[in-house]
Parts: sequence; structure tokens; C-alpha cells
Amino acid sequence: MIRAAVLEDAAVIARIHVASWRETYRTIMPDPYLDHLSAENREPGWRKSLAEGPVFVALDQTNEIVGFANGGPSRKNSVMEGELYALYLLKSHQGQGTGKRLFDHVLEDLRQQGCSSCVVNVLADNPSRFFYERFGGRLVSGQPIERGGKQLIEYTYRIMLQPSSNV
Ligand SMILES: CC(C)(COP(=O)(O)OP(=O)(O)OC[C@H]1O[C@@H](n2cnc3c(N)ncnc32)[C@H](O)[C@@H]1OP(=O)(O)O)[C@@H](O)C(=O)NCCC(=O)NCCS
Repeated sequence: MIRAAVLEDAAVIARIHVASWRETYRTIMPDPYLDHLSAENREPGWRKSLAEGPVFVALDQTNEIVGFANGGPSRKNSVMEGELYALYLLKSHQGQGTGKRLFDHVLEDLRQQGCSSCVVNVLADNPSRFFYERFGGRLVSGQPIERGGKQLIEYTYRIMLQPSSNV
């Protein structure tokens, strides 16, 4: 099930965020950088995000949060362009259609805010970038970024938003 998160979810989202980053980036980012991530440090950022706009969370059968996604205005481009800021699901819950459902909720929210397209930044080394390609993402640029002293390439994909919705 997908639901909109509330302020009280900030601590759990921060915990899932750190766990999912460690799973996703273990072979991509340096170990010390990942080991140093802390849910406690991330919680204030999630409180701020929750106050600013919707965050969607995926729940398992026991109503535990196992993933999350959020978006909003693009941090770089025109006001008509949205951005998917984050989409993370614990590995144990991937491959069951949940990531797509979270993704659809964010895209529908961006559509309702008047966006006709959406960008997402994803590391070139992250195989999840093919998920965006699978759903119409077109590679528009690549830029170097640094994480924990390691140089990486981040790709930007653009997804055109259709006016209709099935969420
Ligand atoms: C990317 C992610 C959210 C996808 O969620 P998921 O629940 O595993 O994907 P779904 O089960 O909803 O898949 C929906 C469709 O996308 C496809 N798909 C899923 N991951 C894919 C991938 N990495 N590459 C290509 N296709 C993919 C599925 O095969 C499925 O196709 P179908 O409709 O033909 O059956 C999830 O793998 C994840 O959290 N990854 C780690 C975190 C991450 O890297 N996030 C992106 C950071 S920018």
C-alpha cells in the first residue's frame, strides 16, 4: 500500500533512507562514507521535506514503511519542470511493482502541480537508472559529482508527463 507520509514518519523514513543507501551504493560509494551515514542526522532534513511537500511511503503487510519517494519543483530548470528527488525501496521489497507505484504517485502529484515534465538525477553506475529508461526517461546530461572522496558521474533523465493519470 502507498500512503502520504506525515511528520511523525520522519524518523522511520530517515532510517529506511540510510538502509537503502547502504544497499544501493555499497559497491559504488566508498565504505567509510556509507558507514558514516546516520538516520539521526537525516531526520531533520526529512522533517523539512515533509513540511514542504508530499512524501509517499510504501507499506508492507504489517504496515511497516519499506520505501519512499518524493518530488517537487526542479531545483535547476524551469518552473514548469518537476523533479523526482528520491525513490528508494528496501531490497527485500523490490521487484513487486511497489517502486512503480511510488513513482506514479510522485508523477501524478507533479502533474497536478502543472508540470509537463520531470527530471531525475541518478548515478551512472546505478542499475536503477534503467528503471527510468523503462518508463520513458531520456538521458539529457551527465555531470561529475563527488561522494566520500570518490569521483562519480551523475546522469539527468527527463520524463515527459502525460496529462492523464491512473494512480
Ligand atoms: C528503482 C526501484 C525503485 C524500482 O522499484 P521496484 O519495486 O523494484 O520495481 P517494480 O517492481 O515496480 O518494477 C516495475 C517495472 O520496472 C522494471 N524494473 C524495475 N527495476 C528495473 C531496473 N533497474 N531496470 C530496468 N527495469 C526495471 C520491472 O522489471 C517492471 O517491469 P514490468 O512492468 O515490465 O514488469 C528499486 O529497484 C529501488 O529502490 N532501487 C534502489 C534505490 C535506487 O537506486 N533508487 C533510485 C535512485 S535515483
